[in-house]
Amino acid sequence: MNLPHPLNASPPLVLAVRAAELAGQRIAQLYGQAFSMTRKEVAGQAQGLVTQADLEAEQAIMATIREQYPEHEILSEESHPDGAGDAPHLWVLDPLDGTNNFAAGIPHFAVSIAYYSAGEPVCGVIHQPLNGDFFISLKSAGAWHNGRRVQVNQHAVLLDTIAAFGFHYDRGKMMAQTLAALHDLFSNQINGVRRFGAAALDLAWVGCGRFGCFFEFKLSPWDFAAGRLFVEEAGGQVTASDGRPLPLASSSLLASNGRLHPQLVQLLSRHWPPPG
Ligand code: IPD
Ligand code: CA
Ligand code: CA
Repeated sequence: MNLPHPLNASPPLVLAVRAAELAGQRIAQLYGQAFSMTRKEVAGQAQGLVTQADLEAEQAIMATIREQYPEHEILSEESHPDGAGDAPHLWVLDPLDGTNNFAAGIPHFAVSIAYYSAGEPVCGVIHQPLNGDFFISLKSAGAWHNGRRVQVNQHAVLLDTIAAFGFHYDRGKMMAQTLAALHDLFSNQINGVRRFGAAALDLAWVGCGRFGCFFEFKLSPWDFAAGRLFVEEAGGQVTASDGRPLPLASSSLLASNGRLHPQLVQLLSRHWPPPG
């Protein structure tokens, strides 16, 4: 895609867009065709799928980064899940966010690529290969959806807003607490809730103003590294679900338009970490 100014003046962002396009092309080719698939353990349970698309997309992104920046660190879901979060130059990749959707033939998944310098986000790209959507953010230069600058919505009450959320693969306490939080949101007259199955896109859609907020009680850095900057650059707020600063590590997460943040922190803190 052709990047508008000032996005085209950032070499890592230009690279991230190219890598996302390459990965997206391969994912789109494999979508709906026969592809190979295995299961991996998540939270001690054999539930996470890994498809040929996850692996090939990851290869394509990593090769593109390494060609231009061979000395940079990579933190990536499938092959480098332990990359150092505080490295001076770090790429954080989710080659295919929404693998379960992809494997089920549900057209809602994305490539997510972020570049961090000394632990701080510099730029991020979230790309939906099937419809060509690009959600791009650059520190201090805004959040952009398909070449247009976007902002979070202005909803100040839950009654006006739609909340997105996610379930971690855990089927125990975390599942029960997530359901309890949803119950609480409905008791507080939330307009609606959605669970679409790709955290990077949930965050992108908070930044675009489609959702007033998104929460999940356990996410990995590759799920939110790009989306977090997108929400912040769109004028929203992103923290752990109890309001503490979000680390670049496995964490709960709450993203919102900012206005809703204090009441959501209060509500979610009743449920996670679990009381007692
Ligand atoms: C998953 C998706 C999902 C979220 C899970 C993530 P994956 O990522 O973002 O929406 O609820 O916690 O693990 O496995 O499809 O890359
Ligand atoms: Ca993911
Ligand atoms: Ca993934």
